[in-house]
Amino acid sequence: MKILSIETSCDETALSVVDASGKLGDVSFKVLANSLLSQVALHKEYGGVYPSLAKREHSKNLTPLLQKTLSEARMFNRINSPLTRDQIGELKKLLNREPELFVLLIAFLGNVKKPNIDAVAVTVGPGLEPALWVGVNFAKALAIAWDIPLIPVNHMEGHVLSSLIKNDVITSIKFPALALLISGGHTQLVLMNGWSQYEIIGETRDDAVGEAFDKVARMLGLPYPGGPEVSKLAEIAREENIKSQYSLPRPMINSSDFDFSFSGLKTAVLYKIKEIKKERNDEKLSEIDKKQMAREFEDTVAEVLLEKTKRAIKEFDIKTFLLGGGVSANKHISYTLETHLSRNLLKDVDIFIPPIELTGDNAIMIAAAGYSNFISNLASKKPLLKIENFIANGNLHLG
Ligand code: KG4
Ligand code: ZN
Repeated sequence: MKILSIETSCDETALSVVDASGKLGDVSFKVLANSLLSQVALHKEYGGVYPSLAKREHSKNLTPLLQKTLSEARMFNRINSPLTRDQIGELKKLLNREPELFVLLIAFLGNVKKPNIDAVAVTVGPGLEPALWVGVNFAKALAIAWDIPLIPVNHMEGHVLSSLIKNDVITSIKFPALALLISGGHTQLVLMNGWSQYEIIGETRDDAVGEAFDKVARMLGLPYPGGPEVSKLAEIAREENIKSQYSLPRPMINSSDFDFSFSGLKTAVLYKIKEIKKERNDEKLSEIDKKQMAREFEDTVAEVLLEKTKRAIKEFDIKTFLLGGGVSANKHISYTLETHLSRNLLKDVDIFIPPIELTGDNAIMIAAAGYSNFISNLASKKPLLKIENFIANGNLHLG
């Protein structure tokens, strides 16, 4: 089946078209088109994602991006196909909070032949609710106009599957599997006893890893999004062999559960910075100080993530480890996990790290999770949610 997938949970507008077939564990998965428009440059001046701006940008960009994506998939054929008065009425009601999107979409739909798409998959949560709603309403409108099913997708399930999308398949894995999800909003250890079975065995009690990276970046005077910036500095420190003379606490590293906490770590960085400034009697940190702090912070995060992951792998007799989420773009963290897990574990664990282009938010992973949902619903004979029952849920849980 050909799936159009839509992702608008944060500051990336992303669409893809994939051709997927086969049962779970043996899925052929060909990407026919993939588009992504990042709003990072716009949110930079606010030092973080500004929800109403994100919503407005998604509304403006979804329709042109859909045209681009369908063209890339060779599914865009211009033809006069006027909508009925009833259809227009229905779409108007649906998009009454997104008038700009309504105007663009009506003009588009009236001039395009119905593409060869079998279903639309859309992120319904978790994420920024105003941003999610734009994608959900856009997807509903397309499903109504083209009379095709709509598949709800949990954004985190996309991150779970992102490391398995390779060479036109969704790689088959052994269970139980463990996913470590590290993103801007989440830090979770997820146990999978089979496809589409998710149990969160540990998560952050306060800040997510990406959030901590972004906040530490701000303390170091680095621009948003801070994760890659802190990471760059830490990498330079390693290259220049600048060892940190500051040591940060490793929060919850020895606790017997699988939870995390990064808020105290962030505060520890803040106090250290204050201490250094006072000691030096200088309002600014030196470049060397920043490099040392970035390196120590990154080392701390990597150590804590590794320790908890190792313990969960042993406890649950894990056969497959999956890494996912924006922070997995961090080379030091993914390298630490990959090398230590393969070196130190006594038994064989298959390790999957997403390719850099699938670490952050994207629509390909949403199509993969959408297909997985569709197939497991089919297998359990569960009907798909009715289009009118689709809602965006900023706090949606996995499992
Ligand atoms: O998964 P993602 O794109 O969005 C969410 O679902 O949250 O993750 C974004 C997060 C941001 O906090 C960003 O700073 C962080 O991932 N990030 C990084 C790196 N690249 C992105 N953190 C550390 N090192 C990186 N190289
Ligand atoms: Zn994400």
